[in-house]
Amino acid sequence: MKKFSIVIAGGGSTYTPGIVMMLLDHLETFPIRKLKLYDNDEKRQHMIGEALKIVLNERAPEIEYTYTTDPEEAFTDIDFCFAHIRVGKYEMRELDEKIPLKHGVVGQETCGPGGIAYGMRSIGPMIELIDWMEKYSPDAWMLNYSNPAAIVAEACRILRPNAKVLNICDMPVGTLRRMSQIIGKTPKELDVRYFGLNHFGWWTSVKDKEGNEYLPQIREYVKENGYLTQIEVDTQHMDPSWQETHKKAKDLLAVDPRFLPNTYLKYYFYPDEVVESSNPKYTRANEVMDGREKKVFSTAREIIEKGTAAGSEFAIGSHATFIVDLARAIAFNTHERMIMIVENNGAIANFDDDAMVEVPCIVGSDGPEPLSQGKIPEFQRALMLQQVTVEKMVVQAYIEGSYQKLWQALTLSKTVPSAKVAKKVLDDLIEANRGYWPELK
Ligand code: NAD
Ligand code: LMR
Repeated sequence: MKKFSIVIAGGGSTYTPGIVMMLLDHLETFPIRKLKLYDNDEKRQHMIGEALKIVLNERAPEIEYTYTTDPEEAFTDIDFCFAHIRVGKYEMRELDEKIPLKHGVVGQETCGPGGIAYGMRSIGPMIELIDWMEKYSPDAWMLNYSNPAAIVAEACRILRPNAKVLNICDMPVGTLRRMSQIIGKTPKELDVRYFGLNHFGWWTSVKDKEGNEYLPQIREYVKENGYLTQIEVDTQHMDPSWQETHKKAKDLLAVDPRFLPNTYLKYYFYPDEVVESSNPKYTRANEVMDGREKKVFSTAREIIEKGTAAGSEFAIGSHATFIVDLARAIAFNTHERMIMIVENNGAIANFDDDAMVEVPCIVGSDGPEPLSQGKIPEFQRALMLQQVTVEKMVVQAYIEGSYQKLWQALTLSKTVPSAKVAKKVLDDLIEANRGYWPELK
């Protein structure tokens, strides 16, 4: 069986150990000859890199392993780049969340002004990663988790239309795992129909392989409990704020009881409640820094100090499962059905061809082939058009360096009440993002 070479960009990420552990658990079905970590933060990279060196020595010494901050070394001789960079790191995520909140607006990593700010920071470095991959390993694929996925995907479509980059999100996978528990199945036993944008979509069908439809049964459960389940479903999306978000799905379902909603719709349907229940001094960024980040880095430190990984395990979540399944689909032409972010081109019949949408696809060696989802209702279509236009205008504002367009994008976001508030938030975000955003005129 062919063996693959992988670089993980954002090697110092809190998600890197989980993905490496997942890869190690699947060497029989996805063999690896070389594994590299790449990050532009030497310190973070060193800590995760050294801990994983010990793990790899113990579990798979035959894999050639390195970590580096040099792009040429990182991107030479690779088959896949798994990317999950966070441009500006947690320090900037905190500002993305706290600045809008100061003005009474949703403060979130990917939705509303926070997502727009993060998008403006991420486009340049993401394009740089793609260019390095194409220069040093022109046949490689990039599987990209870096957020905000919707804006990054639109930027890839416009700026690098022929690049082998697949933008993905773990939220539909994580929620399907919850749905499967509600009906006593596993995610692999289910096929779904789904339409929307990233962090902005709806399930229209959840069937088993015999064709039995479970949506009505899941809907009855979600009507009462949202996606909250009794069993611990994952290592991810388990913190208190996520439990609130899973529960809130019941109020999202109430808005349109036909379809099962993506949890991120809460920022668009209930922005007022989100703001009221947010603590402007302690946001999700703080929760992650005090939780996942501390946990991952203290496990890394422990492994390095002891010189062994025995007794100090890194956790694996559905996040890692998805990216490895996707790599296998491309490597071995498995034709697995997966929800991906792709250019619409008719997959949603009554939506713009050039919109980056999220739909189920059959994935093989040539990448994803979107499955037709037919026509969508007026309500969802209008909401999606508003949101996709925000995403497109952010990319245009980035390329043109246009203050006017970015102000319009913020004004158009359903999370922002007026052009006046949009301007205030924008001016603060510009100040906070100096050195990250292009100069706007
Ligand atoms: P993190 O801050 O722990 O890790 C990100 C790493 O990226 C850091 O080590 C940082 O130094 C590095 N980095 C930043 N800019 C870089 C650049 N230009 N080149 C190379 N490395 C760079 O963040 P995290 O919480 O682990 O999240 C990582 C990313 O994954 C984020 O973009 C996050 O939003 C995304 N994410 C996506 C999904 C999804 O489903 N799409 C789910 C979870 C997380
Ligand atoms: C993260 O993992 O921090 C985000 O990408 C999603 C979340 O948990 O807020």
